[in-house]
Amino acid sequence: MITRYKQYFLLFFSCILISGCAVEQPPVNEDEMLKSKISQLVQAERNNFTSQNVSSYPLGSVLSGGGSQPANNSVSGWRQVIEDYQKNSTIPVIYGVDAVHGHNNLSGATIFPHNIGLGAANDEDLVRRIGVATGKEVSATGVHWNFAPVLAVVQDIRWGRTYESFSEDPLIVSRLGSAYIQGLQSVGIAGTAKHFLADGATVFGTGSGNYLVDQGDTQLDEEEIRRVHLYPYLAAINEGDVLTVMVSFSSINGEKMHASKYWITDVLKGELGFKGLVISDWEAIHQLPGSLYQQIVAAMNAGVDMLMEPVKWKESVDTMMRAVKNGDISKERIEDAYQRVMVVKEKLGLIDGSFEAYEESVIHSQEHQDLAREAVAKSLVLLKNSNVLPLKKSAKILLIGPGADNAGLASGGWTFSWQGETGNDKFPQATTLKKAFEAVVGQNGGSVTTDISLINEVDIVVLALAENPYAEGVGDASDLSLAGSLMHPGNKEAIDFAKSTKKPVVTILTAGRPRLISDELKDWDAFVMAWLYGSEASGITDVLFGDLNFTGKLPFSWPKTSNTDTISSIDPDRDESNVLFDFGFGLRYE
Ligand code: GLC
Repeated sequence: MITRYKQYFLLFFSCILISGCAVEQPPVNEDEMLKSKISQLVQAERNNFTSQNVSSYPLGSVLSGGGSQPANNSVSGWRQVIEDYQKNSTIPVIYGVDAVHGHNNLSGATIFPHNIGLGAANDEDLVRRIGVATGKEVSATGVHWNFAPVLAVVQDIRWGRTYESFSEDPLIVSRLGSAYIQGLQSVGIAGTAKHFLADGATVFGTGSGNYLVDQGDTQLDEEEIRRVHLYPYLAAINEGDVLTVMVSFSSINGEKMHASKYWITDVLKGELGFKGLVISDWEAIHQLPGSLYQQIVAAMNAGVDMLMEPVKWKESVDTMMRAVKNGDISKERIEDAYQRVMVVKEKLGLIDGSFEAYEESVIHSQEHQDLAREAVAKSLVLLKNSNVLPLKKSAKILLIGPGADNAGLASGGWTFSWQGETGNDKFPQATTLKKAFEAVVGQNGGSVTTDISLINEVDIVVLALAENPYAEGVGDASDLSLAGSLMHPGNKEAIDFAKSTKKPVVTILTAGRPRLISDELKDWDAFVMAWLYGSEASGITDVLFGDLNFTGKLPFSWPKTSNTDTISSIDPDRDESNVLFDFGFGLRYE
């Protein structure tokens, strides 16, 4: 609790700063005090809010949205952006990013497997260490807040955010989500449990706008919502002591989460005792009925403490001022939200100036590369092996398919841009699958080529299939086949060529969710699911050549058809006939 004396000190201190000298200042009037507090309850996006705006609108927070990075995308470039805001701020801003699998906006950062791969690894200590490593790389750039982890317990893998989820199982989500938060916050970076609540169970076809699933409606009874979807938040608060929670765009039984006083105030803050700050999602309150005035009143009175208003930050402050003066938002509600924001800032060392960025050397350090490589190896799931794995290091290998040499496809969405990248030019630090193979066979008398004309000179074909990158509703899929939604166009040619040869075929699928493979599986001698593994493909060859064994298990049920709304292992109405590989399945070397 920021005591009142501290508030007046901060305000008095700010008056000195504004006037530039320690002279007797006239008492601050109520309106200025109120505007100062309300400004703390609004977050803008860096592209629409300059460091000059701070003096008239001292906002509580600034964010970089997906792909919003400084022109000078280096540690010094990031630090400069944040420092420019701080130097004009009487109360330091808290700067937030989506570092959902490493500091994925920063050039040269370690890109860890997306959460779905970590769910396959299902190793709490590993995830905690990834939270620490991610926190250090985020901190090195001067950033204080990471909008991660997603605690969605995804039930329909056609959702474009499936890969941001650890699993269909709430126990895995709870354990890994809390471990990540513990790691992240242990190095001074605020975590975010998101998106509250039940964002992973929206019904196919109820998506917002053009989306099929994303931002849709979760239609469940309260008992199941509490047992499955609220449970990870209980763990995030009790085990992870999470500092922030982000509200979901979605609805529960037709009620928009951003207007749900019951779930945000009565349950999250009341029953669960959450003492941190609740932030809205990106302009999410604009999906509420009525004018901006009515949307702000509804969201703040539901219990939102900070509005993520990337563009309408000025209107939001001014409108909230009017709503308080009209009595539509109480001063007690403003004070509660303000205190929550200040408590988070105090815990991050922003009030007493103790926040200290990690040194630049942590970025893509050898320790972090090794950690990511370990995570990749543990995330792989072996689903078929007709005695062709492990590979011999002396083998002559033909590596084909869009996933062969493409760090962008290996990383997926939320990487250097909101929707992700393809190719390698944004990933100078990455070890692609091709590079990883070359590093092994090159030293053991083997070879790897991508030239299909050499098919008669190789021992084995490695077929590297891939999804195109996507994020959020853009990734919503209706056709999960290998030629379906969001699959890379190069897959079909590679699949057909592999089938035409008489060589053994090892298929590796890089994707953010299971895809339909029932028809093609018979043509493959081995099949490995690699999820979206990021920048360290050496973790794949560590296992393919037998230096490590497979340990990964499916964190999601694997479907036979694209009707994936009743395949989850926790669905009481599960359609077992539509499950090809069960949740928890994964082979190992004998
Ligand atoms: C997005 C996402 C959320 C993210 C936020 C800021 O719309 O829903 O997960 O943290 O905006 O980028």
